[in-house]
Amino acid sequence: MFDLTGKKAIVTGAGQGLGRGMATALHDAGAEVVIIDISEQMKHTAQEIGKSGAPVHTVKGNLLDLESREIAFNKAIEILGGQVDILINSAGIHDRRSCMDLPVENWSRVMEINSTAVYHACKIVGEKMIKQGSGKIINMASMLTFFGGFNATAYAASKGAVAQLTKSLSNEWAGYGIQINAIAPGYMATDMNQDLLTGSNERLPQINSRIPAKRWGTPEDLGGVAVFLSSKAADYVTGVILPVDGGYLCR
Ligand SMILES: NC(=O)c1ccc[n+]([C@@H]2O[C@H](COP(=O)([O-])OP(=O)(O)OC[C@H]3O[C@@H](n4cnc5c(N)ncnc54)[C@H](O)[C@@H]3O)[C@@H](O)[C@H]2O)c1
Repeated sequence: MFDLTGKKAIVTGAGQGLGRGMATALHDAGAEVVIIDISEQMKHTAQEIGKSGAPVHTVKGNLLDLESREIAFNKAIEILGGQVDILINSAGIHDRRSCMDLPVENWSRVMEINSTAVYHACKIVGEKMIKQGSGKIINMASMLTFFGGFNATAYAASKGAVAQLTKSLSNEWAGYGIQINAIAPGYMATDMNQDLLTGSNERLPQINSRIPAKRWGTPEDLGGVAVFLSSKAADYVTGVILPVDGGYLCR
């Protein structure tokens, strides 16, 4: 039921962090994976993941740029022989500044990568999935889909948009056999949060004391959920924003 043998997947932002954790899990469940990322790190990641089983492919692309997005996704689809069963939109950025310190250009950058590029990726890959009559799309929401956060106007707005996009598109495409869900990770120990984890700031003890599981999440914590939402087991699950947060949201 959770076997992904023969399935073909594109995972953005899987050069590192949560995308890497989910790409590894899809690969280990049998899927052929293409990583799209802007960072050269993805080549090393692909080698590591692909040490056993099917090879993992890489396509370099800047998801901030419309043309680069089209080129990268078309190349990834070509590598997979025109079939895409799974799309995970994990690439994302944060610009942790107060509203007054955040230039409007930076707001636009966050919105473009975290929201618009996700919409665009769904459109490009969705066209294939509609023709196939099947497909699974996983978007990355956040605790800041639900909360406003601190120094996070652009990021929180972009992740609110991801949830609404996921719900709206799930209605449009359910009839084509396509399921679109989002994972809302809690506080995960990745590069995105290095400043929170290493700096001496007042936020860290506040966050720590709110996590019932008493630890930050890891990329591995998302693996099983990504496989579930990509598999036959989730054929009747769509439009869900699934928290994977050690209980943070319930506190
Ligand atoms: N870490 C967390 O606590 C957390 C919590 C909730 C949601 N998320 C979301 O999960 C996703 C992954 O986060 P992460 O912690 O792994 O971040 P990360 O910074 O570790 O990794 C992000 C990846 O995206 C890639 N990327 C960034 N800009 C890009 C661009 N313009 N074009 C192509 N690739 C680009 C980076 O190269 C990197 O490989 C993001 O959407 C993030 O918003 C993270």
